[in-house]
Amino acid sequence: MSDTTAPEIKKGLAGVVVDTTAISKVNPETNSLLYRGYPVQQLAAQCTFEEVAYLLWHGELPSDDQLAEFEDHERAHRHLDRVVKDAIDALPLTAHPMDVVRTAISVLGALDETLAHDRTWIEPDFTMQRSMRMFAKLPAIVAYAQRRRRHEHAVEPRDDLGYSANFLHMVFGEVPERVVVDAFDTSMTLYAEHSFNASTFTARVITSTLSDVYSAVTGAIGALKGPLHGGANEAVMHVFSEIGSADRAEAWLDQALAEKRKIMGFGHRVYKNGDSRVPTMRAALDTLIAHYDRRDMVELYDALEQAMDARKGIKPNLDYPSGPAYHLMGFDTEVFTPLFVAARVTGWTAHVMEQLSANALIRPLSVYNGPDERHVPGA
Ligand code: ACO
Repeated sequence: MSDTTAPEIKKGLAGVVVDTTAISKVNPETNSLLYRGYPVQQLAAQCTFEEVAYLLWHGELPSDDQLAEFEDHERAHRHLDRVVKDAIDALPLTAHPMDVVRTAISVLGALDETLAHDRTWIEPDFTMQRSMRMFAKLPAIVAYAQRRRRHEHAVEPRDDLGYSANFLHMVFGEVPERVVVDAFDTSMTLYAEHSFNASTFTARVITSTLSDVYSAVTGAIGALKGPLHGGANEAVMHVFSEIGSADRAEAWLDQALAEKRKIMGFGHRVYKNGDSRVPTMRAALDTLIAHYDRRDMVELYDALEQAMDARKGIKPNLDYPSGPAYHLMGFDTEVFTPLFVAARVTGWTAHVMEQLSANALIRPLSVYNGPDERHVPGA
């Protein structure tokens, strides 16, 4: 007998609305993205990443005094504990930096004595403080991971520098020119938050069990690693290396599509007519291309974008311009997605706090399609 009441299955939760959020609004019709009501393009142009982090966590942009206090806290927590460095040093140099970063956040959680002694970890104050610690320490973790792979000594943070300048200082041992710092800061703001994407939803699922914020971020990093999500910025550079030069882009694309490959850095679950963040990141990439005199890079970038539009009508997502931008800045390709982690930790933890403020265990249903009930032989 057929079951006429079978529920409709929404594969990949596509189109399913699971909750409300006041943190960001993605509107594919108007191709816009708002953080707490502010257009992300305006935030990238007018605010530092520290101001954006404050906004995501507190709901309002900071006053001068609030920003000064926030920056003091962030700068005070930049150093990495010896135990975290030792834990990273115990990993093989071949370990992917995303695995290193995920492990380091997990170690930070294991070092937090509050988690061992009581359940105050679900208090808003605890979550806010620990979110600040992860936000402040992630640049040191990412820098340590890249420098160790290159057999370079660790560079200590400088508390006279803003977030992005200090980040680049710790990775490269010097502060690059302003144009590079600004492009990096823009990328951090653009990557900071994007409503119920896969990694943020992962963080909310973990939080919904009343687990702690380190666990939520550790799980979110695991979700971000995949090439259908954050791993795409790394994958874009592999595509560029495979293609080699602009004149080969069309032939490469035709073959890749014939092999049914997904082209990294293109397409989006929500935006079907272009990602609202791309024009801002493309402008930042253009400043870097001019700064480093790498016209060849933009030719390849444009050739693949145009070919993809002509063949499939699919537009680039944020990972398409950010991959080459990070490459030009000098980051190892494997470190691109950890940079996304450093930015998105602000959005993830804002969602952790929002989830805790009106929690309901996230536990969907499934339709069973395995064998009918049967019996173990001898039972
Ligand atoms: N390359 C080739 N074809 C694509 C791509 C792509 N990048 N994206 C979508 N398509 C095609 C699909 O093959 C499908 O075609 P079909 O109907 O003929 O089968 C159609 O477009 C619809 O695609 P879906 O996979 O259903 O779209 P979905 O919303 O599930 O996927 C996703 C979105 C996963 C991002 C997809 O576009 C993709 O795999 N892109 C490449 C990975 C990537 O860049 N991820 C980064 C996401 S953004 C971010 O994390 C910042």
